[in-house]
Amino acid sequence: SDEPLVLGIETSCDETGVGIVRGHTLLGDAIASSVDEHARFGGVVPEVASRAHLEAMTPTVSRALAKAGVAFEDVDAIAVTAGPGLAGALLVGVAAAKAYALALGKPLYGVNHLAAHVAVDQLEHGPLPKPSVALLVSGGHSSLLLVPDVATDVRTLGSTVDDAAGEAFDKVARVLGLGFPGGPHIDRAARSGAPDAMAFPRGKYDDGTYDFSFSGLKTAVARWVEARERAGEPVPVADVAASFQEAVVDVLTRKALTVCRENGVADLLIGGGVAANSRLRAMAQERCAAAGVRLRVPRPALCTDNGAMVAALGAELVAAGAFPSALDVPADSSLPI
Ligand code: KG4
Ligand code: ZN
Repeated sequence: SDEPLVLGIETSCDETGVGIVRGHTLLGDAIASSVDEHARFGGVVPEVASRAHLEAMTPTVSRALAKAGVAFEDVDAIAVTAGPGLAGALLVGVAAAKAYALALGKPLYGVNHLAAHVAVDQLEHGPLPKPSVALLVSGGHSSLLLVPDVATDVRTLGSTVDDAAGEAFDKVARVLGLGFPGGPHIDRAARSGAPDAMAFPRGKYDDGTYDFSFSGLKTAVARWVEARERAGEPVPVADVAASFQEAVVDVLTRKALTVCRENGVADLLIGGGVAANSRLRAMAQERCAAAGVRLRVPRPALCTDNGAMVAALGAELVAAGAFPSALDVPADSSLPI
């Protein structure tokens, strides 16, 4: 194939991800995670993440190249997450990408992390319909995007006004004494619980905006659990997990479909770590089917942060004829889309 070979680097949070893509084909990727080092703090510690990226960068690039079966000299372009994310963590990836681009004499593309979460789906399901709506839900972001073109035109319609959806999962898991990150634990616990056991609040449910709010829900769950504990009664962990999860998933799917309806868009993409949630996948499938909306959700390994998503967007930018970034492109922790 004469499509360019793009190497992508992701270091915006606690995952050091490297992916190698040609067109819409993922040739190989590798990932190193510092998640275990953060577990005892109950959240990602920026300094710890930055140091882990520094240690993991070179070996992870080597592993990705080996898996893809390509030599470094064969790479035609380097893409890297320039933001948003943790400043120190981003800086490690951006510095490495600049060094690689300079050493190879190849163009550098600093890309937006959220747009990359959208672009990655093309590696699994082919070209994204134009326009699509994207719901991105992770530990760091909860956004609704209108995507006329993932390379050139991604518009933020709404985002969370307080906690991200994944952050709420992580905090509620902590209240329930489950592990970190909390999403998978809640997902598992909820399977044996009743989603209607408690009526937890659904923030900004029908407020006419495309924004989310999860901190009121998180606080309501914490109060409920504390009251139980004060009364010396056992906490029904499965019921709390299921009822909390139902509230989050109800709001996410409802708003995503409202965006589709109000903008006349028939294709919805869900991405980010929370897209691994089994109840979110099931409810999205039901509600999309009822609304006549086609649903795309990448496999879980492509939903959580990874390098392939950055390479996928890089390949898209090259194909669109976008200008490369200058070699002094900054890491920007609050990079707008
Ligand atoms: O995309 P991601 O790997 O990293 C960020 O950019 O934040 O997302 C991580 C988040 C965590 O908050 C984690 O608890 C959540 O995704 N998560 C889940 C599930 N798996 C991961 N949330 C709900 N259900 C899951 N099965
Ligand atoms: Zn992410």
